[in-house]
Amino acid sequence: MRKADWIWRDGSFVPWDEATLHVTTHSLHYGLAAFEGMRCYADDKGGAAIFRLHEHLKRLYDSAHIATMQINVPLQQVVEACVELVRKNQMLDGCYLRPIVYMGDGELGIAAQNPTHVEVIAWRWGTYLGDDGVKNGIRCKISSFRRPAVDSMLAKGKITGNYVSSILARREANSAGYQEALLLDPQGYVAEGSGENLFLVVDGKVRTPPKGAAILHGITRDTVIQLLGDRGIGVEESFISRDELYCAGEVFLTGTAAEITPVREIDNRRIADGTPGEVTRLVQKAYAAAVRGQDDKHSAWLTRV
Ligand SMILES: Cc1ncc(COP(=O)(O)O)c(C=O)c1O
Repeated sequence: MRKADWIWRDGSFVPWDEATLHVTTHSLHYGLAAFEGMRCYADDKGGAAIFRLHEHLKRLYDSAHIATMQINVPLQQVVEACVELVRKNQMLDGCYLRPIVYMGDGELGIAAQNPTHVEVIAWRWGTYLGDDGVKNGIRCKISSFRRPAVDSMLAKGKITGNYVSSILARREANSAGYQEALLLDPQGYVAEGSGENLFLVVDGKVRTPPKGAAILHGITRDTVIQLLGDRGIGVEESFISRDELYCAGEVFLTGTAAEITPVREIDNRRIADGTPGEVTRLVQKAYAAAVRGQDDKHSAWLTRV
């Protein structure tokens, strides 16, 4: 990760190298912190905009609420902080933004209630699953790790502790030579990637696991559903089994980091002819236009910097 000049911390900007924490920081010990990931894109008018900033920050506050952490800063102040951070770091050419809410130092022990802090980091982050992956598709492996049941892991919160299984799944997949892991839920239905939601196309119908599944309510997932809807293509939200994936005409992953990444192979089974399909290409194009301010219908998704 390349350093930026500034990090926003609890209401003011601090130099990158000074944004350090004490080892007794509570969240470090027990995994209770909430975070977000957003991208800022350059537009073709010489400016830049953060994509769906309000929705991401709403989810940050919801995640903190789920995690019983109180954020002591109004949401609007974090909105302004994100915009200013991009400007101050001179990242109008595009960057990734990572707000995080964590419980600081004071007491240790799981019953401790230390003050919470909010910070926002910005850095330049290229394609998450590789340029070739976005162009030609990636190889995925069904993980031996499962998404826990919805009453065990509170998957609607983007909570740091939830990511232990994501990291283990991703490492397992990578060391077996695949780019990404796909996790099943406790019933064996397909849930999501380690950091992405999943869509498939079968017999011309687009499907994705339902909101009630053990998945994060991805903002890119919602964006894709709306963009397809604009083009008269409905998305069915229904449970998907592993073998349905193998036989799908198209599979693609969605996420702020991964954007729209086609899947060309799962568990050594080629998906259709092994090249990104028509719907995947359409979604990639529509998404790229929306994030860069070229889709007038959705200009409200952009917060200009
Ligand atoms: C587990 C998981 N699922 C799905 C997503 C996609 O969410 P979004 O589209 O809001 O980035 C992410 C990324 O944050 C994630 O970590």
